[in-house]
Amino acid sequence: MSMQGVKNEEKIELSKEEQKRVRARSMALLGSIIKPVRHRLWVSLLLVTLSQGLRVALPGVIAIVIDRALPAAVKGDFTLLWWLVGGYLVGAIIASALIAVFVQYAARINQDIMLGLRRRLFAHTQKLSIEFHETYTSGRVISRQTNDLDSIMELLNSGGNEMIAGILFMIFTAVAMIVLDAQSFLFVLISFIPLWFLTRWFQKRTRTNYRKTRVASAKLIVHFVETMTGIRAVKAFRKEAQNQVKYADLVEDYRDVNAKVIQLFGIFDPGLIFIGRVTAAAVLLFGGLRVIEGSLGIGVLLSCILYVRSFYDPMEQLAMFYNSVQSANSGLEKISGVLEEEPSVPEPETSTPLTEPHGHIEFNDVQFAYSNGTEILPNFSLDIPAGQTIALVGTTGAGKSTLAKLVARFYDPVKGEVKLDGIDLRELSDVDLRRAVVMVTQEAYLFSGTVADNISLGKPNATREEVESSAKAVGAHEFIMALPDGYDTDVNKRGGRVSAGQRQLISFARAFIADPAVLILDEATASLDIPSERLVQHGLKTLLADRTAIIIAHRLSTISIADRVLVMEHGRITEDDKPAVLIAGTGKFAKMHKAWRDSLV
Ligand SMILES: Nc1ncnc2c1ncn2[C@@H]1O[C@H](COP(=O)(O)OP(=O)(O)O)[C@@H](O)[C@H]1O
Ligand SMILES: [Mg+2]
Repeated sequence: MSMQGVKNEEKIELSKEEQKRVRARSMALLGSIIKPVRHRLWVSLLLVTLSQGLRVALPGVIAIVIDRALPAAVKGDFTLLWWLVGGYLVGAIIASALIAVFVQYAARINQDIMLGLRRRLFAHTQKLSIEFHETYTSGRVISRQTNDLDSIMELLNSGGNEMIAGILFMIFTAVAMIVLDAQSFLFVLISFIPLWFLTRWFQKRTRTNYRKTRVASAKLIVHFVETMTGIRAVKAFRKEAQNQVKYADLVEDYRDVNAKVIQLFGIFDPGLIFIGRVTAAAVLLFGGLRVIEGSLGIGVLLSCILYVRSFYDPMEQLAMFYNSVQSANSGLEKISGVLEEEPSVPEPETSTPLTEPHGHIEFNDVQFAYSNGTEILPNFSLDIPAGQTIALVGTTGAGKSTLAKLVARFYDPVKGEVKLDGIDLRELSDVDLRRAVVMVTQEAYLFSGTVADNISLGKPNATREEVESSAKAVGAHEFIMALPDGYDTDVNKRGGRVSAGQRQLISFARAFIADPAVLILDEATASLDIPSERLVQHGLKTLLADRTAIIIAHRLSTISIADRVLVMEHGRITEDDKPAVLIAGTGKFAKMHKAWRDSLV
């Protein structure tokens, strides 16, 4: 498996080469998520430019009103005053309307971008093979879907929209001031010196602290997910207190770094306001002197003061923008890493059709190792004719489940081939393969929904009769009827909770309704009590009649329905014959069988 995309995820220091690659990958992802909305982004830019332009023009109107229209009105000519005040009002209404439209329009674009990305990430993560999910923990998958997507949304919302509006606002204000009175703008320029130091300080401190908050929140999530998914073990081993202490430490850390960030804002915000006020005071003082001299209109002075007062408003957003970029960037890096992963058992581009599977399975010189490299099957060959029922036995770790997973194509062999009806599994489409081969394991998983929903997963359009008859066949009908709503009982609701054994019976029914050519039962009866297992076996006999079956079972009672027994040891078949022949012999199976028989009495 490649693990190309996510292998550097936990690394702090990347080489120059790797950095470049990851950067290019993130940018490509950003480009691809923006591309579908690019035309709308231009419209949005037009909206924001117009609205900010109007917003900045309004104080300028006040200057003209005071300096020109009022003196004219004093002399009895009200025309200019009416026009300007009217224009001011209309301008104010349009500016507000434009801002309202822009905010909604831009939010809509961002939501569409996020929708696309969420869908893509989910579809891709789900498509990745079992091998990927074995190494990439669910905590990490959850982190990608929550934290990382949120940080990108944060960048799009605060960063993207507000930052562009803020920059435009500052530029327009600067231009307006230069046009009206360049001298007043000089004080704004001078204020850039303390502003620069303040902002630098703020950015530096928030950058490290934001990184710390991200690390702290990631640790929280991991600890939380681990504790809750392992809640049974936690309770069984009375680890609650210990976990509580660890969690308390983690949340305390999280609070501390957050408090630190808030503290920084506590200094930065008043600092900004103070610089703004001092600049306004300077403009007022020196402008006022020029008004007395007669070289500056009082209206111009007033509008300059209005400009200075609001000039610094977007600064906080701008200073924070860097942080949004940083965290969104780390989110993009990780998400693009997951998206870069390829399924290790890909579906073929052009598949060989398998319209009527018979269930003939062949292993030809199969060599197999998991991604950690240890060889499980050194050189494995096996032929299972269609319709045969195989009992596969052997000690734990012999490779029985591995063999089963290869037949279901959860993995591909390193060398050699696994064939179904003469076709290499790698040449079959997923649909054909899943229809032909069904595996039932010990951990029978029930999805939210009703019992009937869970059974008909095996055959999406199954009728209620089919659902019931498959449940009857495996002996699940009685207990299902005893549930509060029978087949319509919600498995996640109170009263719908079923035992591990009952879950297995439901998953049996699910497999039988699918009617596959090849059925694999990997210790699928392990949670059943002896009477239930009897019931299942009774059904098995008829249900396995016309299909190939591989039954891996602890309890040797299954042997009675097998045509052939395979004993597996260290990835090799050591015994292979009819049950009666092996029992009568002197091999390992004969010993196992004798021990099992003795245990029964
Ligand atoms: N996902 C995996 N990654 C790495 N090694 C594995 C994995 N699953 C099983 N193994 C190893 O493969 C060997 C065979 O395991 P398995 O096929 O599950 O045995 P059995 O089902 O006969 O008990 C064991 O040594 C086990 O440690
Ligand atoms: Mg196993």
